[in-house]
Amino acid sequence: MANSDSLEFLVEKHSKPVPPAERTEILMNPGFGNLFTDHMVSIRYSEGQGWHDAKVQARAPIPMDPASSVLHYAQEIFEGMKAYRLADGTTALFRPEQNALRFQKSARRMAMPELPQEIFLKSVEALVDIDRDWFPSAEGGSLYLRPFMFASEVFLGVRPAKEYLYMVIASPVGAYFKEGASAISIWVSEEYSRAAPGGTGAAKCGGNYAASLVAQAEAIAQDCDQVVFLDAAEHRWVEELGGMNLFFVMDDGRLITPPLTGTILPGITRESIITLAREEGLEVSEEPYAIDQWRSDAASGKLKETFACGTAAVVTAVGTVRSAQGDFTIGSGGPGQLTEKLRMRLVDIQRGLAEDKYGWVKRLF
Ligand code: PLP
Ligand code: COI
Repeated sequence: MANSDSLEFLVEKHSKPVPPAERTEILMNPGFGNLFTDHMVSIRYSEGQGWHDAKVQARAPIPMDPASSVLHYAQEIFEGMKAYRLADGTTALFRPEQNALRFQKSARRMAMPELPQEIFLKSVEALVDIDRDWFPSAEGGSLYLRPFMFASEVFLGVRPAKEYLYMVIASPVGAYFKEGASAISIWVSEEYSRAAPGGTGAAKCGGNYAASLVAQAEAIAQDCDQVVFLDAAEHRWVEELGGMNLFFVMDDGRLITPPLTGTILPGITRESIITLAREEGLEVSEEPYAIDQWRSDAASGKLKETFACGTAAVVTAVGTVRSAQGDFTIGSGGPGQLTEKLRMRLVDIQRGLAEDKYGWVKRLF
């Protein structure tokens, strides 16, 4: 069976890559997730044979049989990570081994094979290497990497598939929110839940996002940027946004973030922020925070700031919260001081501008 040592990537360069002038144009203002680089990575898995057929090749549509089991039962997982061009011109990834680990955990939860961490890292690095001319020139830009895996077996029986396709694509990106919003507005979903105890909330599987979309559509209809989900059992405890974790900054300097009980995604940014906040001497409590408490703490001034964090969103202030029970504003409605400070601390490390004392930055070339 193929293992990480024996798996070699066949590299076939694109015969007609995007012309340099066009690429330069794209890289000046890439937006988020609309544009893609010239290449992609693919690796196949079959029961018995293991991981095989590793390729770096021209990005192209993938032919699929209509009975491919992912199209019916949604056995699919993904990751989101960014490659940065540092101040000294080298490229780097931020804590990529954490993405590799989470990808394995998601695979376990979805009854899929676990891609060895070394292969995950090698695949991502191979794509950054071949598409190294695709880093945005725009301030704050990065190369967003999307590793994913799905059940490719042609079979309609309901059981874990025996064949999978793992792929990595890359997209040059700027800010996730329009015009790099200084503070976002969020809609409280009281009707829909994202994840339930015993469910797949802690896995990064496509199904969680599919389940979130009706609530996200409601948020958009309410003129909000994102949806915030409450727990499924009591509809009381704040969990996370559709694609980001949440932090609450209290007037005594304490930070609160919902605990990892299995229904929210264990964000790598969340964990990094906890570490950086503690380094600043702040107390961080991973504890449940109720929606009613949030509303009354915002009104009394006990709550100073709220921010969302994730790979795509980095650290973004939450200014307004809307719900069927009425709206409330957090602080002045703009980014607070601590949000800004923690954002800068994180970004400076990611960009190689501050000391990397935890070894989070993996320099490539
Ligand atoms: N929560 C959800 C639902 C997400 O999709 C993401 C983004 O990946 C996060 C939280 C933040 O995770 P990370 O910081 O690892 O990107
Ligand atoms: C990420 O932050 O990487 C995500 O996957 C979340 C999504 C909002 C793009």
